[in-house]
Amino acid sequence: MEFSILTLCYLIASVTFIIGLKMLSNPATARKGNLIAAAGMTLAILGTIFLYEEEGKKLGNYGWIFGGILIGSIIGTLAAKKIKMTAMPEMVSMFNGMGGACAALISIVEFQHISSAFSLSNQIAGLSSTTTGHVLIIVLGLIIGSVSFAGSMIAWGKLNGTIKDFSFKGQHIFNITLLLIILALAVYLIGWMPANGMLFFSIILVLSLLYGVFFVMPIGGADMPVVISLLNSFTGVAAACGGFLYDNKVMLTGGILVGAAGTLLTILMCKAMNRSLMNVLLGSFGGNTVSSGGGAKQQGAYKEITLSDAAVVISYANKVLIVPGYGLAVAQAQHACHELEKLLESKGVEVKYAIHPVAGRMPGHMNVLLAEADVSYDKLLEMEQANEEFNTTDVVLVLGANDVVNPAAKTDPASPIYGMPILDVELAKHCIVNKRSMKPGYAGIENDLFFQPKTSMLFGDAKKVLQDLIGEIKNL
Ligand code: TAP
Repeated sequence: MEFSILTLCYLIASVTFIIGLKMLSNPATARKGNLIAAAGMTLAILGTIFLYEEEGKKLGNYGWIFGGILIGSIIGTLAAKKIKMTAMPEMVSMFNGMGGACAALISIVEFQHISSAFSLSNQIAGLSSTTTGHVLIIVLGLIIGSVSFAGSMIAWGKLNGTIKDFSFKGQHIFNITLLLIILALAVYLIGWMPANGMLFFSIILVLSLLYGVFFVMPIGGADMPVVISLLNSFTGVAAACGGFLYDNKVMLTGGILVGAAGTLLTILMCKAMNRSLMNVLLGSFGGNTVSSGGGAKQQGAYKEITLSDAAVVISYANKVLIVPGYGLAVAQAQHACHELEKLLESKGVEVKYAIHPVAGRMPGHMNVLLAEADVSYDKLLEMEQANEEFNTTDVVLVLGANDVVNPAAKTDPASPIYGMPILDVELAKHCIVNKRSMKPGYAGIENDLFFQPKTSMLFGDAKKVLQDLIGEIKNL
């Protein structure tokens, strides 16, 4: 690509993607990072629309292009405004699926171009190496994009409850066979480009969509965030294929960044849950395996605390660490939580938050939730920092968290979460746990913490309990 204003636009956009991604790794800069990368993307899109030329001709079709952009922007804005924080993974899944679909559509259009050029020049046999390279990238983009699209749609359906987990005996063998058939057809198409190439191409498309469905179907609903992150990395690779195809540097950079970031995030999530990716994909805990009603196996007696006693214990403490979990998000209790924090601080209590990397149901769930309620970033302690502070903490207030404070991860080799790093809340002087019942959390296992002498249970919906607690403290 010779140097031009368009190349400069692409270069600037690529740099903004990298800077934006870096800034997204810190809650204090994430919002700005997102805006910077979005500005870069806008520049790349507008540059392509107005400056790209092929054989001296501009793109044209402005009505279609801007009509599409307008419709997409309206849908995207409304969806983002309407979506609840707890439903965020489902929206990410939907948007990711659209990215996969785009990559697959690019492949469909480009394959049609290539195959009609072939029939015109009657060069069915003897492909040039450039054309073989093109077909390879087109077919790769088709397979990865279709798997990502179909898989993301299933993940979306599972997260919003419209699709139930589904598996049959021998499904993993079936999936592997399906994948091998797709790959064999792809090799044949790329290597030999038969006269009826379009037929093979269509079969690969259908089988890839089917594979996406069967790949995600058996995975537990609660493991969807990991799957979405993995599919997200697929979409990135599929977009990068488009970048290769069009020799478009910004598409290539963007795709590779998404692919790499998605892969890293997938690995990080698995590590934080102490599970291998294989274990997640083949499903061992989570999803429908979570025990539905009975609750934890009875372990002994647990102690309950009344609201007024909890109010006294918390407001006469020197230091309180709040541990937010999935239940806080479900109850939408982040604002009440921030109010409690401010009230306690006005009474001279030091308040901080201990954030476990997989607390909640998606990466950064707790950070985003607390940021929404204007909790200051410097109050958020990462797990390692928090674990150093628990032994100097008077009261830990666990709000709708369960697995991330389960000591079985350290003490019980038979536990499915054994080895998962946890927040060492039992090192504090006192631990108050708020949840609605004794039912287990995501991993479906009992929690020894609830039965320890230092622990008191404060039952009820997190938002209501926090509001009542604030009332009690104000009346002290
Ligand atoms: P969980 O272990 O799922 O526990 C959440 C607890 O919140 C439940 O025990 C539930 O008990 C309680 N709860 C639900 N609604 C509530 C409400 N309205 N008010 C008060 N409490 C409520 O959550 P966690 O400790 O945050 O752990 C997260 C889990 O998700 C981990 O096992 C993690 O591996 C998994 N996971 C996380 C991610 C990411 S990236 N964050 C991705 C995949 C999986 P009651 O029903 O008794 O109220």
